[in-house]
This record gives sequence, structure tokens and C-alpha cells, in this order.
Amino acid sequence: MSAARITLQMVTPAPTDGGMHDAFGRRIDYLRISLTDACNLRCVYCMPEEMQFLPRAELLQDDEVLFIVQAAAQLGVRKIRLTGGEPTVRKNIVELVRRIKQVPGIEELAMTTNGVLLADLAQPLAAAGLDRVNVSVDTLDAASFKRITRWGSLRDVWSGVEAAEAAGLKPIKLNCVVTRGYNDQQVADLARLTFDHPWEVRFIELMPFGEVANFAHNAVVPYQETMARVEEALGPLSVVPGYDGHDPSRPYRLAGAQGTLGFISSVTQPFCAGCGRVRVTADGKLRLCLLRDNEVDLLTPLRRGCSLDQLKALLRAAVWGKPWGHGLANDVVPEIRVMSQIGG
Ligand code: 5AD
Ligand code: SF4
Repeated sequence: MSAARITLQMVTPAPTDGGMHDAFGRRIDYLRISLTDACNLRCVYCMPEEMQFLPRAELLQDDEVLFIVQAAAQLGVRKIRLTGGEPTVRKNIVELVRRIKQVPGIEELAMTTNGVLLADLAQPLAAAGLDRVNVSVDTLDAASFKRITRWGSLRDVWSGVEAAEAAGLKPIKLNCVVTRGYNDQQVADLARLTFDHPWEVRFIELMPFGEVANFAHNAVVPYQETMARVEEALGPLSVVPGYDGHDPSRPYRLAGAQGTLGFISSVTQPFCAGCGRVRVTADGKLRLCLLRDNEVDLLTPLRRGCSLDQLKALLRAAVWGKPWGHGLANDVVPEIRVMSQIGG
């Protein structure tokens, strides 16, 4: 434990508002839940093609997810995002969405999806209470899309985006992980979409994880480079006013565009000060930082029959230890999981 951390713990009294806080004074009000580590695609930067997934019995069951959501809501969490792997491949996803949205206190329920199944699922998910989706679309070129996702069809995803918009899952956000040699030359095509659509297109720096870390190290494109490429093709970007520091994506706009562009610079310019999120992995571990391996087991206490109050106490204590800052600059790479097991 660093000296700075000890000092902060001594000077920061535990707030008594009943919410979750960490030792650095950050309030935790956003929970991301990975519903499965499985996926119907195999993006090169996310997982190896022959990826083995967890047996279903080792994943959180629906009732266990609900119990965690209840505890988190009573501790002040207002916003939940469902992630994967690919959350739409989970059995009974529509019913699970309905139950989560009904938990008192949950105001916003969003999902990050690859969009492959959205053409059929957008409408039922919206009817069940899902508010918004972020869809991963790394390129508008069908051949490049196939090369990145190994198995994916851009046409399926595009139908999914249209269905999401028709179902009112707005504002639509598109996530593009910029990967050198795969889609870095094509970022302007995605940015151009914002002229005619009120969407947010977000460019994400590739992050290194576990088995795919070496690949990521060589393929990361700093956000300044992506920004320069967009400006060169489409003109200058202006900062969108009102950015509150909590969203990792800093918003910009092309002149005359309806939508916005965002740049997520996890690698070159971390945004830890504004981070109010924690994650639950598909196998029931509370992951305190995306890029650090610190985790607290929730599954075991849940399966031993802990009470809601016990779970709340466990969550509060765990969140207090949320780490500050990742170690990518010093080659400290998260080792124990790849992205599909954490959920982004
Ligand atoms: N670095 C950055 N983003 C990643 N994603 C998956 N793997 C990585 C990685 N190594 C993205 C997906 C999706 C979101 C869940 O995380 O493309 O948009
Ligand atoms: Fe699946 Fe998303 Fe990973 Fe691609 S990035 S393999 S869509 S979980």
C-alpha cells in the first residue's frame, strides 16, 4: 500500500450517506455486470479463436444477479450496464432485463452489445425496460469487419443498429476499438456517420489483457492519432461543452454534425479521478478496476446463503479498496482475464 493511500485513508472519514465510496473519496454509483463470458464473435483484440468459456454452473444465476442489483441499488447505485462476452447470448436475457429494471432505485439500464442479435432482440429488450445500447462497430468495411471479428457479418450488426434506433434505445452509441493494421485507416468513415445521425461514435484505445496483451501492445493507436485522422478527412473538431468528467469518453463535434464523437484514452491518458464504476464478472467477482486484477469474490458468499445486509456490507468494504490508476505505463498488465470475462 502506498504512502499516499495510507494518508488518504486517515484523512478521509467514511461518509455516512449510506452509499458506496472508496478511500480516495470517489462515490461509486455505477455498476457494470457481465452476464456471460461467451460470445458469438471472436474479435482479434478480445479473445483467441479457440477460447474456452466457463461452464454455466460457474456463472451467476439470474437470482444471484438480482440479489447483487438489489444490494447495489440500496447502496446508491442508479445506473447499471449489462455486458459480456456478449450479453444477448445469455438465456432469458429479456426476462432478466425486465427484473433488473424493476428493482427500486435503478433508474438507468443500458447494455453493451456486438449487435449481432439486436435485429430480433431490440424491440423486446426495449419493451422489457432497457434504456440504451452501445453497439460495437469497428469499421464500415465488410471485409475488415470480418477480419477483426473473425466470424461477424457487418450486415447483421447494421440491421441491429437500425432495430435499436427504431425501438427507441437512444441515444445510440457506437464503439470502435481502433486497432493498428485493421481499422485505423477507416476511422473517418465511422465519424462521418455523425453528420446524418444523432449518434455518439466513440473511438477506444486498445487495451492489453492477458493472452492478447502482446497483440494489443503492438496495435494500440493513441487517440491523438485517431483524432488527427478524422480531422484531416472531415475538418476540425470542436469540444462539446458541459463534459462532467465522469464519462471516460470526451465529446467532440464535427462542424454541422447531428451527432458527436468521443475519444476514450484509457491507455495514453487515464481518467481515474472521475471513475465511479465497479464491475461484476460473469463468474461473480467484484472487479474494482478494469485494468487491475484486484477482485473480491461475491459468488461464494452468495452460494453460502448470505443475507442482503451481509452482501451490502461486503460490497461497501470491497469498494473502499478500489485501486487508483492502472500500471500500463510500467508494464503492469491485467493478467488473469481477457476482456470478454470482464465486460469492458
Ligand atoms: N481494448 C479495448 N476495448 C476492448 N473491447 C474488447 N476488448 C478490448 C480491448 N482489448 C471493447 C469491445 C466493446 C467493449 C465491450 O469493449 O469492442 O466495445
Ligand atoms: Fe465478443 Fe465483444 Fe469480445 Fe468482440 S469484443 S469477441 S464482440 S466480447
